[in-house]
Formats: sequence, C-alpha cells, structure tokens
Amino acid sequence: MRRTCDATNNVLSLHKKTTSKFIIDKVNTDREREATRELVKRFWGEEEQLTFDKKFTVAELPTFIAKSNNNIFGFISFAETAGATIIVALGVLPKYQDVRIGKSLVKKVEDEVKKLQRKRLLVSASNDDLPALAFYQSLGFQIYEVKPNVIAEKHGKVLKGIGGLPIRDELRLQKTLS
Ligand SMILES: CC(C)(COP(=O)(O)OP(=O)(O)OC[C@H]1O[C@@H](n2cnc3c(N)ncnc32)[C@H](O)[C@@H]1OP(=O)(O)O)[C@@H](O)C(=O)NCCC(=O)NCCS
Repeated sequence: MRRTCDATNNVLSLHKKTTSKFIIDKVNTDREREATRELVKRFWGEEEQLTFDKKFTVAELPTFIAKSNNNIFGFISFAETAGATIIVALGVLPKYQDVRIGKSLVKKVEDEVKKLQRKRLLVSASNDDLPALAFYQSLGFQIYEVKPNVIAEKHGKVLKGIGGLPIRDELRLQKTLS
C-alpha cells in the first residue's frame, strides 16, 4: 500500500483504494453539519456521546471533516473543558480507513489545541474497542484511567461489542502536547 499525506496543505492522496484528493477542513455549512450528524448516527446509532462523565451532542461541537468535493468520508468532533480538550467522536468510513485519514484528523485537533496554548488532549474508548485503543496508542496516547462498568450502566445492560466482548468499561487516554 502506498500512501502520502501532505500536512502542509492538508491534501491527502490516497493510493490504496482511490486516487481522489481529500482535504481536511472545519465544518463550515449546514449541509456539512447535517452530513456529520448522519455519520455519527451511522457509527454509533445515536447523536449523543457520553464520555468523561459528560453528555455531548456531537453535531453541536467544533468538528473537522475529511472531504472531497461534496463527499464527506470522516470527521472528528472535540470539546474544550477546564484543563483539557476532549476528542468526543472520531470516525472514518470503512472504505477510507487505513490511509491515515484518522491520524490526519487527530493531528488537526492537536494543532488547534496548540493554537489555544493548551497541552492536554483526552479521548476515551470502550474496553472492547481494541482497534481504537491500538489506533490512539500508535498516535502517542497513553491509558491513564479505567472507569469500570460506566458504559454498561449507561446502557442499563451489558451489550456485546467488538469480537463479542462485553461492553462495560471506559478506558481514558491522554496525550500531552509539547
Ligand atoms: C479508529 C479509526 C478512526 C482509525 O482511522 P484510520 O483512518 O483507519 O486510521 P489511520 O489510517 O489514520 O491509522 C493511523 C495509525 O493507527 C494505526 N492503526 C489504525 N487502526 C489500527 C488497528 N486496528 N490496530 C493497530 N493499529 C492501527 C495505523 O497502523 C496507523 O499507524 P501508522 O501511521 O504507523 O501506519 C477508524 O478505524 C474508525 O473510524 N473506526 C470506527 C470508529 C471508531 O472506532 N472511532 C474511534 C473511537 S471514537
């Protein structure tokens, strides 16, 4: 697989599945916000995300999208809280995964955090989501806290997750930006 990522002009050339050009940009229009809302529902079935003991409506948050012409392939939404920025939701459509769009979206948020002269970036993942845990650790995040059972309590039951694992615990990761 060949892949290039030009972080300077935010243009990605994808050679694995397509040769289209992609840009990563802030959500600017109502149409883009609506498309992000649809992506959130597609990934998680609901618009609200509970993370770090707070409930967020993802489409209302600052968001970057990966897009080409009128098509949106991925997004990242984040929130500022006292002392830290939280990545609330991140998703890349399956057809466009593994070509560093996710990494580029996280990098955009990191740049934003640095611009605000903040340093601490947080994200959480459920205990079954081993791919997301691998992804975030490969980007330099470290697990620093585990909240046992909070996701099971949110659902009122233990659902089956990735690989049939029980979805129970919230694993919290952090990255300190220099
Ligand atoms: C997790 C997700 C956002 C990753 O996006 P992506 O565009 O496929 O990831 P990238 O191509 O940018 O990968 C960046 C790095 O993470 C690594 N990585 C990604 N997925 C991985 C996995 N399952 N296991 C190990 N490493 C992984 C890649 O190898 C890559 O490392 P490299 O730069 O050294 O090659 C995407 O798979 C996704 O949308 N999943 C479903 C929704 C989700 O789980 N969201 C995150 C929790 S909110």
